[in-house]
Amino acid sequence: MKKRIILGVDTGSDDAVALMYACMSQEFEVLGVMVSYGNQPLAYTLKNTLKIRELIGGSFKVYKGSAGPLVADLLPGSRLNTDIQSFEGIIDGKAVAVHQKEFDLPEPEGREERTPAVIWLIDTLVNSREPVTLVPVGPLTDIALALKIEPGICNQIQEIVCMGGGVHVANMTPCAEINFYNDPEAAKIVLESGIKTTLITLDATHSSWFGYEEAGRIRKTGSLAGAFAADLLINRIDAANRLGARAVKKSALHDVLAVMYVSHPEVVTEVVRQKCDVDVGHGYARGGLFTDDRASASAENPVYIAYRADKDRMCSLLEQALVRA
Ligand code: RIB
Ligand code: CA
Repeated sequence: MKKRIILGVDTGSDDAVALMYACMSQEFEVLGVMVSYGNQPLAYTLKNTLKIRELIGGSFKVYKGSAGPLVADLLPGSRLNTDIQSFEGIIDGKAVAVHQKEFDLPEPEGREERTPAVIWLIDTLVNSREPVTLVPVGPLTDIALALKIEPGICNQIQEIVCMGGGVHVANMTPCAEINFYNDPEAAKIVLESGIKTTLITLDATHSSWFGYEEAGRIRKTGSLAGAFAADLLINRIDAANRLGARAVKKSALHDVLAVMYVSHPEVVTEVVRQKCDVDVGHGYARGGLFTDDRASASAENPVYIAYRADKDRMCSLLEQALVRA
């Protein structure tokens, strides 16, 4: 039985590989893909998503989501309170980016749907006869908006498997992971919704590094998607290293792990049910994910946190999905 999922992406390089896995693994019924700002402004993430759909011959519909966070932009000063990591820049006169603004792929012929993502999400969930798993791998803005507009959708959501947060690992600031930092208020709304939520954190994704060897295995699948995924991975490794964001020449395929967890939970080797919260203050810890391990922490809490993953299992599943049909 295929898992019925709705993806929320900010396509980006690892989002692109996650889309490939979601569509080529034959494990999922992808009800739709919502695209928001995040790794790049919405115009770029949207076109990158449409380009990937055509590269893989995807039939999923694409919906335009939010162009910015709920309220974070209203308080720009809070971005000055800490050291923000950049994932793009100009080095030796050339643009270097972990998430390219424009994928080097043909202009897409297809377009996004006219219905805004949040409206489509609410309508799809309200009318869904079977449970749906939401798989957000970018900012949580659109899901938070939908929950605020129509709280009843909680009953149709089987689980949220979200790439976001980091307990002992951060990447955007010393305390925060990018997706949570981009919209901390949205992350808090989702975590407090009462919906079973599994956070595929940086703790888990940074325990399963991909390197040039894995890029070679992915390229050997022989498909166009495999070749492009290998190029994306190599660019991630090189760009993060050149920008000083990563000392080792390895990369985590964060979003791929989130999608894989839905169909193959064994790919995550350590998951803990933990009460947690996101800092929505405007200081050094803004966007940080913090756990509460006191004995009094509510046992009913619906949040599970992934801490470790199996890179070899991830790579095998990805190879199987991308091998030339
Ligand atoms: O921190 C990693 C997350 O931020 C991934 O989803 C990546 O695509 C970026 O959006
Ligand atoms: Ca992403």
